[in-house]
Amino acid sequence: MYRALLMTVFLAACGGEEKKAETPPAPAPAAPAPAPVAPPPAAPATNAQSGAYTPDAMAQAAYDKAKAAGADAKPNPKHGDAAAIAAGKAHYEGKCVVCHGATGMGDGVAGSALPQKPANFHWKERWDATTAGTKHWILLNGVQGTGMAPLGLTDDQAWEVLAYVDAEFANKQ
Ligand code: HEC
Repeated sequence: MYRALLMTVFLAACGGEEKKAETPPAPAPAAPAPAPVAPPPAAPATNAQSGAYTPDAMAQAAYDKAKAAGADAKPNPKHGDAAAIAAGKAHYEGKCVVCHGATGMGDGVAGSALPQKPANFHWKERWDATTAGTKHWILLNGVQGTGMAPLGLTDDQAWEVLAYVDAEFANKQ
């Protein structure tokens, strides 16, 4: 009788032991880190600061049209003219700054959202790749397929704004 009681106590004690919380399974070994993926090649910068300039298809089409119209040969009659530069500054601030930026870097608030970045006027290779006449044609006709639309400038105003860009940004790399 005493023995049976002892057994009961013993079993009860053992049972208690058996209820001991199981140790959680060891965490699975971490999966091996994925191999680093090479970043995709950067799209060609269209508003770089410097370096060789290769026009995109839209810009090239505009250059070709300006040439076909004979507009590329026209020099800027207002180049270096102080009054024209002052007038051009007002046109620039009113109509261009939003895309080409206050300092002509092509970084205006509206420009950054465009798939085709506005030209950076400090990019000498780009600025020198076209004549004043071609740029004038672009101001009157735009670059089709890009944010560069005709902006309603008169023939004279377009020369003035180009005189300003030349004096303020393009000749000050
Ligand atoms: C809505 C945005 C926008 C506005 C406003 C705008 N531009 Fe542009 N401009 C562009 C974009 C974008 C291009 C580039 C097109 C391309 O590379 O195909 C461009 C290109 C040009 C180019 C040709 C540069 C080159 O080398 O091909 C000139 C010059 C230019 N802009 C001058 C101006 C002037 C001056 C004004 C104001 C009268 C102006 N733009 C207003 C977006 C704009």
